[in-house]
Amino acid sequence: MKMGANWLTALMHVSFCLPTECYLFHKTAETPSQKETIKHSVWRCSICTYDNDETMSSCDICGVLHGPLLNNSIYDKKRTANIFDLKSSRVSSTVVGRDEAVKVSSMRSDSSNLSTEKGKHNRLDEINLLKNIEVGPPAGSRTSDNCSASVPEGWLDHVDESSVAVNLRSSVKRSLSLMPKERNVMVDDSSSSRNGGEANSLTSNLENISFAAKSGHSNDANPGRANSRAQYKPEKWMLPEKAEHSLTQLNLAIVGHVDSGKSTLSGRLLHLLGRISQKEMHKYEKEAKLQGKGSFAYAWALDESAEERERGITMTVAVAYFDSKRYHVVVLDSPGHKDFVPNMITGATQADASILVIDASIGSFEAGMDGTKGQTREHAQLIRSFGVDQLIVAVNKMDAVDYSKERFDLIISQLGTFLRSCGFKDSSVSWIPLSAVENQNLVSAPSNFRLSWYHGPNLLDAIDSFQPPTREFSKPLIMPICDVIKSPSQGQVSACGKLEAGAVRSGSKVLVMPSATIATVRSLERDSQACPIGRAGDNIAVSLNGIDGNHVMAGGVLCHPDFPIAFAKHLELKVLVLDGATPILIGSQLEFHIHHAKEAARVARISSLLDSKTGKVAKKAPRCILAKQSAVVEVILQEAICVEEFSKCKVLGRVFLRTLGRTVAVGIVTRIVEEQ
Ligand code: GTP
Ligand code: MG
Repeated sequence: MKMGANWLTALMHVSFCLPTECYLFHKTAETPSQKETIKHSVWRCSICTYDNDETMSSCDICGVLHGPLLNNSIYDKKRTANIFDLKSSRVSSTVVGRDEAVKVSSMRSDSSNLSTEKGKHNRLDEINLLKNIEVGPPAGSRTSDNCSASVPEGWLDHVDESSVAVNLRSSVKRSLSLMPKERNVMVDDSSSSRNGGEANSLTSNLENISFAAKSGHSNDANPGRANSRAQYKPEKWMLPEKAEHSLTQLNLAIVGHVDSGKSTLSGRLLHLLGRISQKEMHKYEKEAKLQGKGSFAYAWALDESAEERERGITMTVAVAYFDSKRYHVVVLDSPGHKDFVPNMITGATQADASILVIDASIGSFEAGMDGTKGQTREHAQLIRSFGVDQLIVAVNKMDAVDYSKERFDLIISQLGTFLRSCGFKDSSVSWIPLSAVENQNLVSAPSNFRLSWYHGPNLLDAIDSFQPPTREFSKPLIMPICDVIKSPSQGQVSACGKLEAGAVRSGSKVLVMPSATIATVRSLERDSQACPIGRAGDNIAVSLNGIDGNHVMAGGVLCHPDFPIAFAKHLELKVLVLDGATPILIGSQLEFHIHHAKEAARVARISSLLDSKTGKVAKKAPRCILAKQSAVVEVILQEAICVEEFSKCKVLGRVFLRTLGRTVAVGIVTRIVEEQ
């Protein structure tokens, strides 16, 4: 199995503004009028009035940037052009053989920037000291530093149950040695597991609040558009016929702290299920040994680039497939290293369910739970914020702790508390002790007698126990564009992504946003093969006629011409600041991520802080939002993005905010203040 075309590479290279870059931009974009210099060598913070040394680009106390914001141009004006430069240079690599797996994204150049620029961040990193600001433990959550609350249970998912549906987000898979047989993604909607949860976390009571009430504004920036969506009637061909022997597609994100064994576990599973042949496995073993990386043989099935193999870490998300009894499983093997969290996010945003891999070894589990560096925590928070509520915790490397039940129980007790605070219900989390290297408890009951105390399901059975995802077949078309493939010689352009709602077929008219251009679907490809119809849940490449290639861009959206989605830069959000994050202030500059778009954002207003128990407004117009607090804010983006209110379209209304290489808040769009 070798790596296929990396069709998301260009998007990630270009559109992600790294913290380093943002920081440097802030420095050069200072506005003298915004400085309050009281002595030659100090400047006074306009927020907390602390006198900072003039060498400080941000306030030592509250972290607000020195002379920030206005007209700051984090956004690369040439972004679109650059995307297409990169894309076109990749056209030749878009023909992918069936024996290839696809990496979903790449941040290779970004990551090297990150490491080379790390030194410049030393001052700003000190802001992280503020992470220790505590606002008191939420009801029902542990007071322990390691296990304090973050994303509250179901807080993003309860707004409007009628809008509950697809949580698979876009991606495209062309390639694939691990390709499956034809399947139907028909799902029984009634089996959705996306319900509200029990109130045992920080702001779980927010479930009871309507967003209109919270914001104090009408939700309908464009009532006509909203109403007509509800009135949409799908045509017959758009709805799938139920086929008896078809498997439901399940996008499964494999996440967890660096080196916990995600790739090894994925590789081993694929090998056991016959997706990697014995011959291929021998080859990996031989090559890995030759490079002195014998223990990474299974990981090599997923980590296919020379750099990944040399460094022994996953850098981009790898996609592979296998079939279980119930599902056609799309494995999204994420990188665990903190430098590649944006790449991990690309995979996690597509997930219906997730496996959180834990390294049970002494010290390693603890490292993953570390408040600042542990990716176990950040990954768990992120996947929950993206609507994933079904989780398997694969407690891996049990061989390294002699299959100790005590160690397993300790991990359940510590991580379980944290997961609850993230919003995972106990009933939706399975705990499986296993060893990927020793093949214990993956696809059959453990053979090692030291694991005889365990009587639960093996990993494969646990995957089959997931509830099937729901699909929005009968809603108007929505496909966030993850990648664009252009073939200048043939004058063709294809938009790749995951159909979140509705359906398309050859000849369908689609509205390409944000260029607001109508195009005609020329052909469709799914899993590298032409297909007549694409329906909600499918990852497809849509070849378009009648449109200039420059009008199709990653971060855009294909939608139904009669149901255009909004394009806006001034948004009201409800956000939750994550545990350990620096405070968010008026004027804070953040990276704003939404579906496949990313934009620089400025916090223009903090309208209110919300009470963690009642969800009601606790304080109007506060100066800042601290970790674990929830608030209604307004943000102004550098450039407009395709967006919808969360209550109308989850996938286009779910956001997360990052700064300095860390995710600081998750949120939802409660109101589009002003459309473009
Ligand atoms: P990143 O993707 O870089 O975050 O790493 P990863 O989580 O994919 O870990 P990977 O599969 O690359 O494995 C890291 C190391 O852990 C390798 O040396 C593996 O051999 C080892 N490893 C994986 N699973 C097990 C296991 O069950 N037992 C033991 N003892 N080691 C394991
Ligand atoms: Mg890996």
